[in-house]
Amino acid sequence: MEAITSSQSIPGPKSALGWRMNLFHFFRRPLLYQRWLHQTFGNVVAMRQGDKPSHVFAFGADYNRQILTNPDFFEVSTSLLNLPKDTVMGEMFYNNLLLMRGEKHKQHRRLMMPAFHQQQIERYSTDMVNLTRQLAAEWRNKEEIELNHEMKKLTQRIAVKTLFGVYDEARLERMGDQIARLTKSLLLASLAPVDIPLTPYHRALHLARELHADICAIIAEKQRTPETDVLSTLIHAHDEDGSRLTEAELIGHSFTLFVAGHETTANALTWSLFLLSQHPETLYQLTEELEGALGGDVTTLAKVMKLPVLEGVVKESLRLLPPAGIGTRRTAAPCALGTYDIPENTNVFFSQMITHRIPDLYREPDRFRPERWQTIKPTPYEFLPFSAGMHMCIGWNFAMQEMKLVLAVLLQHYRFSVVPHAKITPNIQMRPVHGMPVRLLPPSSAIERSPVRGTIRQMIDLN
Ligand code: HEM
Repeated sequence: MEAITSSQSIPGPKSALGWRMNLFHFFRRPLLYQRWLHQTFGNVVAMRQGDKPSHVFAFGADYNRQILTNPDFFEVSTSLLNLPKDTVMGEMFYNNLLLMRGEKHKQHRRLMMPAFHQQQIERYSTDMVNLTRQLAAEWRNKEEIELNHEMKKLTQRIAVKTLFGVYDEARLERMGDQIARLTKSLLLASLAPVDIPLTPYHRALHLARELHADICAIIAEKQRTPETDVLSTLIHAHDEDGSRLTEAELIGHSFTLFVAGHETTANALTWSLFLLSQHPETLYQLTEELEGALGGDVTTLAKVMKLPVLEGVVKESLRLLPPAGIGTRRTAAPCALGTYDIPENTNVFFSQMITHRIPDLYREPDRFRPERWQTIKPTPYEFLPFSAGMHMCIGWNFAMQEMKLVLAVLLQHYRFSVVPHAKITPNIQMRPVHGMPVRLLPPSSAIERSPVRGTIRQMIDLN
């Protein structure tokens, strides 16, 4: 057994300007900086404040397992946002599965699970297909689109419809817009959470009140007439002892599900279509597979879910450009990480991005090779786009189904070609910060790889 070593001996970068400067480099170029840390300092790396490590990066499957299976030591932290709990906005934000711990988390997850059972998710497939067809029809007279913006529009519509079962178009767009605006304003609002007119907090509170009223009205409708959407399932879910989710909890969970679900899936779809546009031979194999198996009919859900090239494309995109590329926890007590002692209140990062690029796990890790998924079967700590352990994404199979159906429908109507020399640079949330301009071409077109600029060129091997 190896001896435990003090956290003071964890290797890491020095900076004359302190750990904040190192974090700045990390946020600016998340993958490249993490890769440099990993290659230069090894599997455990610290940025320090005085003697203490303020942020520790732990790279690789063993550390992922250790962090994600010990929630008593490595807790999800709420310290990023600081919102008063006794307002409608606080209620919406803190009634959130990711921020719950222990028994409470278990109970809520148990009550929410029926909404995400395979059979239940299959019911959402018609909405997923129809809304994608509708968007494809809206593009009919366009030659060029900003793909990330369009994918966000689509996943937002799918989220509102499958979560709330809202069938009124105008109400659907309004709710999606309200939630998206509220999410965007949360960080700014939490910097000075005082309710003074014209401040970001005041505006966010106003938005939260409007949304709260809308969700309450929908809950009242669904209490009278149960439907098959996620919110209906949550309203009618109960434990063996009859306990149910309260109205505040229902509102909080609806908000979280929307926020957690739509942007991640939009980014994942954007990168899948980008990678396909850069790999015409894979695109060809995929469209052949879709045409052969479905003959133009994507409503045969069972078939779509089992297509090997489609499965490989989705998993390989999630491996190379995971929408959640890094996860974070905070130590709740002094504890060991590998052979190091870690003090209480240390921020600990685990990295999907680096784990997914370890050459021993994935040969030619920087290349897009969907066919690898026909022969490899990584463990949950080696491939973790949806994280692992108790907080593993509750919507992972929802997202997988959505990605497959959206890709199958869109590729029936169009080929996507990135505008030549576009600057493609993902940020830490894996959103392309300068957008993703693409040309829409008919499905009969032959696609050639377009030259692109930006940090994406250092993140994947396009040769
Ligand atoms: C490609 C799409 C998605 C990705 C990459 C993704 C990724 C993740 C990750 C990495 C976590 C865990 C974070 C952690 O351990 O710190 C998570 C949790 C969560 N996700 Fe997703 N997600 C996606 C789609 C969705 C969808 C569609 C929904 C719901 C409709 C959803 C709802 C949630 C919820 C509620 C949690 C918290 C679970 C818990 O704490 O028990 N996600 N997701």
